[in-house]
Amino acid sequence: GLLRPFRNEPSVDFTRPAQRAAFAQALSQVREKFGATYPLFINGQNLATRQTRPSVNPAQPEEIVGQVSQAGPEQIDQAVAAAQAALSGWRDTAAAERATSLIRAAKAARARLFELAAWQVFEIGKQWDQAHADVCEAIDFLEYYAREMLRLDNPPQPASLPGEDNRLLYQSRGVAAVIAPWNFPLAISCGMVAAALVTGNTVVYKPSSLTPVIGWTLQEILRDAGLPAGVFNYVPGSSAEIGDLLVEHPAVSLIAFTGSQEVGLRILHKASALGPGQRQVKKVVAEMGGKNAVIVDEDADLDEVIPAILASAFGFQGQKCSACSRLIVVDAVYTALRERLVQAARSLRIGPAQDPAFFMGPVAEPAAVEKIQKYIQLARQEGELVYQSKVPEGPGFYVPITLVEGIRPEHRLAREEVFGPLLALMRADDFDQALHWANAPPQALTGGVFSRSPAHLERARGEFRVGNLYLNRGITGALVARQPFGGFGLSGTGTKAGGADYLLHFMDSRCVTENT
Ligand code: NAD
Ligand code: ALA
Repeated sequence: GLLRPFRNEPSVDFTRPAQRAAFAQALSQVREKFGATYPLFINGQNLATRQTRPSVNPAQPEEIVGQVSQAGPEQIDQAVAAAQAALSGWRDTAAAERATSLIRAAKAARARLFELAAWQVFEIGKQWDQAHADVCEAIDFLEYYAREMLRLDNPPQPASLPGEDNRLLYQSRGVAAVIAPWNFPLAISCGMVAAALVTGNTVVYKPSSLTPVIGWTLQEILRDAGLPAGVFNYVPGSSAEIGDLLVEHPAVSLIAFTGSQEVGLRILHKASALGPGQRQVKKVVAEMGGKNAVIVDEDADLDEVIPAILASAFGFQGQKCSACSRLIVVDAVYTALRERLVQAARSLRIGPAQDPAFFMGPVAEPAAVEKIQKYIQLARQEGELVYQSKVPEGPGFYVPITLVEGIRPEHRLAREEVFGPLLALMRADDFDQALHWANAPPQALTGGVFSRSPAHLERARGEFRVGNLYLNRGITGALVARQPFGGFGLSGTGTKAGGADYLLHFMDSRCVTENT
């Protein structure tokens, strides 16, 4: 039947006691499942491997959330072969039926919304509201891309003339490798997988090694949706061992990747080589990191600026590609803003994400702690620390909230993605300079401007060149269908997740001309 128009999955209101209680209950329910072993899922079958890898709670690393089977080269071959075998059947399944599978998966996810969010709290240290939002976004991708596919199944047709009938149609590209990050562990995985599937590709999905149990839940909701065997395969494993193999596999024709610049560029490079028997130029959709700036103009309303900056810079520990890592402040308000920001930062509490009293939690892994600490050292050399919070005692992977000032566009802190709660304050002479500095790094993902001057906002619209620009609000939390998300420059290949042109990257088009 016809689908009702798309609407975003409603967000949760944790000020309501019933919602809070339900979430606490979901956390206990998930905790009871800690330590279970998860197999691979290939060709419609669970497949346990001898080798497993633990996935831990970053707030409490001795807590093993799950033991996860590890795919090696042999299982990658098996998974790709299964996807290849399932391809013609799935490609020729009516688009409406493929779309219906996504709607069924959305229904399965909705029925478990709190539980799916609870896994994120434990496996990656995401705060309650943000974990909930991530699951809502996953559902949105399923619902939105289902509708998008129905639209594209009936595309605008090229011109025909008397005696010449021209028809355009889209077909899937083939076997898609989906390689996902840990920071939006269900949403981004689900978005890339849903787009590949609904357009008729079959999928080999490799979750991040930090969030494989959440990856398993994606497998569960797709299994509930009843996909034919081999259409979706789940292969967690060490990226050092299987990453290149998957990318270079001659039967893989599309790679949907979200992650760091380093890995994204490596994939683009590897994907250009022609393997034995390969029949297609590999297409790479790569969404990579940012070095995102918020400009604070001299007439900005600081009551609005402060909470937006705290959320954008330190929400989920600053581990969002969209996070604010440069705060460019026009000289006239610099001192006032710095003062208020430090006061506000002092009020933020840090502790385990399972306790909603804490604004900020642990970062993803020990390597992240090390990397962020190195950048804090660098911050001391390139600028001056204006504030550093305490770090909770105990076992979790914690780093402090750090504010550094005196950073200039040429500094590494103004150019390199830290991916942690370290915010660089940059003092600009005026709005012109602020805009110039904002555009200086090669990344171009998100950006923001706080100003009450219509002329300045208008200039920012035209000249602040990033994939997602936000005026007078925070710069994270893009919503499917409302803020098509993604960057260009060194932030990615320019695709827009949750937008109307996204699915086109997952298909080839054919034009058939008949002389009538
Ligand atoms: P990452 O690049 O380390 O890993 C991403 C994925 O690539 C993981 O599944 C990893 O196992 C895999 N991988 C690693 N090496 C590989 C190889 N040689 N071949 C194939 N796959 C390989 O990134 P991460 O730490 O998981 O995520 C954080 C990064 O992602 C940040 O840079 C962030 O900005 C970026 N990100 C971007 C977006 C966006 O939409 N632009 C969204 C979220 C995250
Ligand atoms: N889509 C995510 C955001 O906008 C990355 O924050």
